[in-house]
Amino acid sequence: MFNFALIGAGRIGKMHAEIIHAHPETNLKFVYDVNSEFANEVANISNAKVVKTPEDAINSQETNAVLIASATPTHIQFIKMSAKAGKPVFCEKPIDLDINKVNECKKELKDIKSPIQIGFNRRFDLSHSKAQQARLNKEIGDLEMIIITSRDPSAPGLDYLNVAGGFFRDTTIHDFDLSRFILGDDPIVQVSAFGENLFDENVKIAKDFDTAMFILKSKSGVLIHINNSRRAVYGYDQRVEVFGSKGMVISNNQTINSLERYTTSSTSSKDLIHFFFIERYQQAYRDQFNSFVEIIKTNKKPKVTFDDGQKALIIANAAYESYQNKKIVDINYD
Ligand SMILES: NC(=O)c1ccc[n+]([C@@H]2O[C@H](COP(=O)([O-])OP(=O)(O)OC[C@H]3O[C@@H](n4cnc5c(N)ncnc54)[C@H](O)[C@@H]3O)[C@@H](O)[C@H]2O)c1
Repeated sequence: MFNFALIGAGRIGKMHAEIIHAHPETNLKFVYDVNSEFANEVANISNAKVVKTPEDAINSQETNAVLIASATPTHIQFIKMSAKAGKPVFCEKPIDLDINKVNECKKELKDIKSPIQIGFNRRFDLSHSKAQQARLNKEIGDLEMIIITSRDPSAPGLDYLNVAGGFFRDTTIHDFDLSRFILGDDPIVQVSAFGENLFDENVKIAKDFDTAMFILKSKSGVLIHINNSRRAVYGYDQRVEVFGSKGMVISNNQTINSLERYTTSSTSSKDLIHFFFIERYQQAYRDQFNSFVEIIKTNKKPKVTFDDGQKALIIANAAYESYQNKKIVDINYD
């Protein structure tokens, strides 16, 4: 049994706690959150102990691995603390909002062997990963275009917006990573980004975007289009199209059930798609965790590494530069 320390017991922390508790080989041992009410609520899932400091959770002899699901600006301090204590780390995306802090962290931990996995859960979605396999196996011939539609059902509140770090670094970062995943060893080299505030008052107050579009280009010339919205009245809209010389694969939206209605007023009418990420990516979050448990056992390289987190942030930063300067930006990973 591997004992876990969970840092951060908010929206996604609670979901991770349930996954840790349900896994036959892991146990939720300690929970730390600056908000002890949240910590208590999550600890109740599995009789975990609520501790007063992150050190109590991470450095305990009883802790075998750490799962970081706290607010983004706190990730790096907990990654460092865990890795230096020799514990395998799973950390939610993004690693941080400041690339200098990410680079410094990488340097500081370069001789430390603790595996660090970053929470780009979409790589573990069965349909998205089949689309990636279709590209790798050349089922669609030579890859020419990737089109990603990623729209949330509704915008988050102001509290979240104020700490999340902006649409491109917090949300589109998933799509930048998914593009990198499908492209494999063909790096993204250019980005052009547009952002607008069309409908959400809180987003306006936070000086953020609720609508965005991107065109990116890979080194071999593959073109990638990403479109994001913070509001889709029909649910969490997640579609990936991978197009090549011999055809196309689509990872489409998934409805809660597969019933189709045929009536006098419509045909092929389906129930709604999943509401949001916890429902839509349930299988991916579980498989992501299963993969991390294998890393704890084998000490192998995680399927999503610290470098993947760093590169996705570099692309997000280049996207902001493109938006601000109204130009296509070359991406430099050095
Ligand atoms: N992979 C995904 O699909 C996904 C989905 C949602 C959120 N996230 C990421 O997970 C992280 C948390 O997001 P959320 O939606 O759960 O937010 P949230 O606001 O619901 O939860 C964050 C929690 O962190 C706690 N916290 C803040 N500072 C802390 C500190 N210094 N020490 C310990 N706890 C602290 C807060 O009290 C809160 O309980 C963010 O980095 C976010 O980007 C990832």
